[in-house]
Amino acid sequence: MTTLALNGTVPVCDAHIVFIRPAAKGGLELLGSHKLKQPQAVIDSLLAVGAKGSAGEVTTVPAGKSSPAPAVIAVGLGTSEDLDDLRAGAGNAVRGLVGKKKAAITVPDRDDATVRAVIEGALMAAYEFDTYRTNKAQMRPGVKSIVVLIDRAGAAIKAAAARAEATAKAVNGARDLASTPSGDLDPVEFVERARVLVGSLPVKVVVLDEKQLARQGFGGIIAVGKGSQRPPRLLRLEYRPKGATKHIAFVGKGITFDTGGISLKPALGQFEMKTDMSGAAAVIEATAAIARLGLKVNVTTYAALAENMPGSMAQRPGDVLTTYSGKTVEVLNTDAEGRLVLCDALTRVQQDKPDVIIDVATLTGACAIAVGPLMSAILSNDDKLTADLMGAAKAGGEHLWPLPLTPLYKNMLESKIADLQNVKEMAPPAKGGTIVAGLFLQEFIEKGQKWAHLDIAPVAFNHGGAFGYTPTGSTGASVRTLVEYAHSVA
Ligand code: BES
Ligand code: MN
Ligand code: ZN
Repeated sequence: MTTLALNGTVPVCDAHIVFIRPAAKGGLELLGSHKLKQPQAVIDSLLAVGAKGSAGEVTTVPAGKSSPAPAVIAVGLGTSEDLDDLRAGAGNAVRGLVGKKKAAITVPDRDDATVRAVIEGALMAAYEFDTYRTNKAQMRPGVKSIVVLIDRAGAAIKAAAARAEATAKAVNGARDLASTPSGDLDPVEFVERARVLVGSLPVKVVVLDEKQLARQGFGGIIAVGKGSQRPPRLLRLEYRPKGATKHIAFVGKGITFDTGGISLKPALGQFEMKTDMSGAAAVIEATAAIARLGLKVNVTTYAALAENMPGSMAQRPGDVLTTYSGKTVEVLNTDAEGRLVLCDALTRVQQDKPDVIIDVATLTGACAIAVGPLMSAILSNDDKLTADLMGAAKAGGEHLWPLPLTPLYKNMLESKIADLQNVKEMAPPAKGGTIVAGLFLQEFIEKGQKWAHLDIAPVAFNHGGAFGYTPTGSTGASVRTLVEYAHSVA
């Protein structure tokens, strides 16, 4: 990952990034302690090439005698005070530095949150998934090192930088996991990578293999995993720092590949289902970041891992399974598999007695129809938890929107022969599919247990080009929300 340093002076580097906005009396205003030797000359150059300082604008001009860097990259902010515009602005500037060694960046030094946002945006934008390229010409390595120009020194600013660095590292780690082809990442390999991730952290790892899962009655995870020769796993992480009083739990959907099973998906876009473990990747990476930062909150995390394949031993539509809770489920569509692994993990996590449970899943294609391509949905039985998570998402620059757990659609889960059915069969598009999936999960939540479900299906994978700090492909969705939330309760 890109290295970070805090410094008061501009080093010799490839580019010097500054933030600008329209000045009150016309012209441009440079923000923060910009360290340019001849600021007016830089402003004149920017004006000469038409820079307005508006939001989203990135303008590069020669630095002249103003900086040891050959170029100044000016990021427009307009009148925005929004932290995520800073994050995205820093991202847009840094994305343009592919293949470069070193950049310096001036932070508009408003407060620690501002510093944090700029660093997060820069480090997330310096990310590129080049693991599978051998041709150097096709690689797009992000800038190697970033020097943050800041006058303030001391503990608070160091802590802000450490927080940003840990968060960005977790986001980029989740992206790596989700981008890895499923041929190289089955449930067993996911567990190995989780062990490496938390190896040097005060996090305890417990893994149930397929024999233990079967013996203990995890019928949902077993049913989904049995079509594959690569067996399922239930991964548990435990972080118990001294002095913590609150206890939060994370549960992630970890389908390492989702073919749909016997209810096979159509071919177009199937490859995207290598990212159907994005929820599991997010929860383990967020847990690692929380432990790395030493936050004073107890965290228990589960990743429900299985490969959904149409093998000869696969579950069939019409089969009935017995979940870990004891409830039976008639499986009418094997492609609604996420809820089958999650319900077992949700039953298990309640034995740990956490104050709140947050599950994260690429659960329904219908979610993007409901909230569009740039938001996740939140479904929760607790209004305060919803508000807190929406606040955490906003602080982290993510977008969460509530959908109702309305009893209106509960009848869609009534089976003719079992306690529940996993879907109501209907001609696509499935109407209300995200809500029905949430209602299914809620059947496994005990009375009084605070719980929220995040459906990240719309945002886990970016089909289009990179923008701001978001790369094309896997995005690391929800990591920032979870880390921010942990901060808010710690
Ligand atoms: N993993 C998919 C959901 C998904 C679709 C995530 C597209 C990201 C992008 C999930 O397992 C699934 O297949 N859901 C079905 C549910 C249906 C059978 C009720 C869906 O959305 O079509
Ligand atoms: Mn599916
Ligand atoms: Zn799935």
